[in-house]
Amino acid sequence: MIDKINELIGRVQAFKPKAAAEIEEFRIRILGKKGELNALLEEFKTVAPELKRELGQKINELKTLAMQRVNELKAAAAESSAVSGPVSDDLTRPGTNEPIGSRHPISLVRNQIVEIFSRLGYTVADGPEIEDDWHVFSALNFPPEHPARDMQDTFFIDKNPDILLRTHTSSIQVRTMEHQKPPIRVVCPGRVFRNEAISYRAHCIFHQVEGLYVDENVSFADLKQSILYFAKEMFGEQAQIRMRPSYFPFTEPSAEVDVSCNLCGGKGCNVCKGTGWLEIMGCGMVDPNVLEANGIDSKKYTGFAFGMGVERIAMLKYGVKDLRLYFENDIRFLNQFDSVL
Ligand code: DAH
Repeated sequence: MIDKINELIGRVQAFKPKAAAEIEEFRIRILGKKGELNALLEEFKTVAPELKRELGQKINELKTLAMQRVNELKAAAAESSAVSGPVSDDLTRPGTNEPIGSRHPISLVRNQIVEIFSRLGYTVADGPEIEDDWHVFSALNFPPEHPARDMQDTFFIDKNPDILLRTHTSSIQVRTMEHQKPPIRVVCPGRVFRNEAISYRAHCIFHQVEGLYVDENVSFADLKQSILYFAKEMFGEQAQIRMRPSYFPFTEPSAEVDVSCNLCGGKGCNVCKGTGWLEIMGCGMVDPNVLEANGIDSKKYTGFAFGMGVERIAMLKYGVKDLRLYFENDIRFLNQFDSVL
């Protein structure tokens, strides 16, 4: 029996697993209920009493050795799989996905509007969000107390009627004409502010792009053709426009522009309320009073201007029915737009 025990001690010492799973198999084979150690203990019951002391010690030695060996091997296997296990070993595993942001739909559409007009030779002009009465109203032919000022609910700063948040980007027209002589060809993107109740179609902060073109012999036909070009570039080659007479203090004549509904192709649907047309901007020939107020000779020069809401264009382009979505920063909404521009 002593030979059997020694032989087993030798095997335990020499055991070198090739895979982690072999360690557990080894443990069961030696130390398990039906394992070799228990078989030896059975045999031990039958040995002569004078041999029991020596054999008992030897069996205990074997048991301790086997348990130590199993524990050591398991610990070593766990450590090596943590360092060089499957994660770092398998070079074909897909990498971890780094989330990248997407551009806000309002930025996308604003950039696209600017880009379309830049192809027609327009540059970008900028102006302040906190403005004075002159640049927002007076220089644009809104006389004091003129009811047209009521068209827009203005936020005044510190109750001072002269300092206000601009209600439209037309103020940048004025700032441009102040320091630039014709020919002038600018688009003016920016944020505007109106004291409006927030709803699915109105917000107190929104974005506009204004356009201004002043030169000799600029005509209404030029305006119409430029807007048609814009509509086709923005909404697709099939897009049509129509102009309805309107009123703005700073343009004469003035018009509102509709684009053919790109959802129903002009047949009439609930988005265009059955008309086949959607309103996209205001425009007109710059009123001579506005040119004169800004030091431009209205006998020599004529011009046209237009102004559009970026949220509105984006709603029509992407089929967004509630304007508030643009301001909520809900990642599920924003992730749907990719960053092309
Ligand atoms: N400023 C106008 C608004 O906020 C939009 C507008 C209409 C701008 C006609 C223009 C224009 O330049 O010619 O409602």
